[in-house]
Amino acid sequence: MVKAGREDASYRNGEHSDTSLALVTDLLHRRLGLGTVRLLEGIFPDQTAGLITESRVRFCHIDVDVYQSAADILAWVWPRMPVGGIVVYDDYGFPRCDGITRHVDEQRTLADRVVIHNLNGHAVVLKMPDEPATRHRTNTVGTQVPSCSPCPAFP
Ligand SMILES: C[S@@+](CC[C@H](N)C(=O)[O-])C[C@H]1O[C@@H](n2cnc3c(N)ncnc32)[C@H](O)[C@@H]1O
Repeated sequence: MVKAGREDASYRNGEHSDTSLALVTDLLHRRLGLGTVRLLEGIFPDQTAGLITESRVRFCHIDVDVYQSAADILAWVWPRMPVGGIVVYDDYGFPRCDGITRHVDEQRTLADRVVIHNLNGHAVVLKMPDEPATRHRTNTVGTQVPSCSPCPAFP
């Protein structure tokens, strides 16, 4: 683990270090047959974002367990996402990953996105147009809904 801080009660840095580029390459490329997956070794975005040549990202899956890493990755990817882009987080709501829950919940009031979560520990953030006509409000279960879409359940 890297970037664990005050927001992360269960991490101290250094956890999950029993791996290597060779081990993960073997798993993905040879055992799972996912030869098109490109692996970047290092801390993202600090050490490896410069290796990404694509200027637009439509989908991003964040599975880093701690607050600051998730926040830094989102800060890098969000400006590169078109409206309709999707960010999926692992471990939302899990006690061991309280920093992820906090990071996702901080986005719930932002006007340019819709935040939902399921009972499996996935949170999904959908990029929306950042325009006054489509600003969101939060319904009774904490999910943002577009104010431009009349819904009988939330008049
Ligand atoms: C729960 S593990 C998940 C790993 C992988 N997704 C899997 O399912 O096997 C989280 C990993 O994210 C790594 N991590 C945390 N912050 C990171 C960052 N900013 N850049 C790269 N890796 C990071 C941690 O070191 C840890 O190995």
